[in-house]
Amino acid sequence: MVEVNDNFRQLPVSYLFSEVARKIAAYKKENDACEIIRMDIGDITRPLFPSVINAMHEAVNELASSATFHGYGPEQGYPFLRDAIAEHDYLNRGLSIEASDIFVSDGAKSDLGNLGDIYSRNCKVAVMNPAYPVYVDDSVIDGRAGKLVDGHWNRLIYLDCDPDNHFLPMLPQERADVIFLCFPNNPTGEAISHDDLVKWVEYAHNHGSLIIYDSAYEAFVRQPGIVKSIYEIDGADEVAIEIRSFSKTAGFTGIRCGYTVVPRRLKGRYADGSEVALNTLWNRRQTTKFNGASYVAQKGASAVYTPEGLDSVKNATDYYIANAALIKDAFRKIGYKAYGGDNSPYVWVSTGNGKDSWQIFDELLQNCGFSTTPGSGFGTKGEGYIRLTGFNSRENTEKAMSRLIERYL
Ligand code: MLT
Repeated sequence: MVEVNDNFRQLPVSYLFSEVARKIAAYKKENDACEIIRMDIGDITRPLFPSVINAMHEAVNELASSATFHGYGPEQGYPFLRDAIAEHDYLNRGLSIEASDIFVSDGAKSDLGNLGDIYSRNCKVAVMNPAYPVYVDDSVIDGRAGKLVDGHWNRLIYLDCDPDNHFLPMLPQERADVIFLCFPNNPTGEAISHDDLVKWVEYAHNHGSLIIYDSAYEAFVRQPGIVKSIYEIDGADEVAIEIRSFSKTAGFTGIRCGYTVVPRRLKGRYADGSEVALNTLWNRRQTTKFNGASYVAQKGASAVYTPEGLDSVKNATDYYIANAALIKDAFRKIGYKAYGGDNSPYVWVSTGNGKDSWQIFDELLQNCGFSTTPGSGFGTKGEGYIRLTGFNSRENTEKAMSRLIERYL
């Protein structure tokens, strides 16, 4: 028998969202297939935009004829999409990111894990606590997390986030080589201001650290002064990789398309101290292990940047933010503490009465027929919280919240 990667033994048996789905399915089975409104995983519910659908239909038609057929595409993404991203998401916002800095992929989650191929196994990794579980689980699989002791991986640096620091972590006390930041944040739904993010870019410059900035929810930013891209901070292109997704912006959770920005000015060093551009390494990694996102998905993604596409992004994200506002209001009405939701589709809720996350999950499932994500699945600082998403339909969100109010007010 082959010797397997021992790091898997240490992981929780299943991934957080698989565990939540398993519990919901078990509950439905025991309770005669009752209707459960899903407010746990951040999966969108509105259909793809007409501009995206048209572009994808056209792409499929091209594939149907030998004159216009496309086989393997560039591993980095088609120029039509890389150019559109550079222009709309960066150059038009005064940020000097170019098409050659951008690598199109099949989504943020894969890139977040795959990036571990280009930094050393010896790197000390810092994660926000609570955090999207992918950062921690990938660090465990790659052997960077150490051992699990009292709920903490002993080689990870935890950046605690709670109401006292407005869910914005303090800078690490010890040197972190790689720092995962996510804003607007999953799971807390809180966003970061320009001034607060400057400190992290300065830290990275002073300590030679790499920031992996997960900006999958930037399209939900509404308030002025809140950061959408880390490259809004001077010098960030020398210390940060940014990861974006079309999933939440344009409803691509099933289509799969995202991108990662690895600016050519961002450098690392080999063990002998010689310098190398991370862009070169990522390009080498992608050309070896990835054959590019599908042509049809990339054509669809490029339609997001047409005037109709941009309008649709605004409308869809407004819709989900309005759902988040309904959720936040309803929980506050019944006396719970609720955070996030203003620049984000996520609302972070605590009863404030000592109940643990899975107890709250079970109680709401049983009493109100909707599912949530237990905060403890995002880290020890998530214990006592649940996360809700604004991604369900308005009708279902209203139904779930009126059940909550009827039961608890
Ligand atoms: C979430 O619910 O946190 C996200 O949908 C998970 C993901 O994007 O993979």
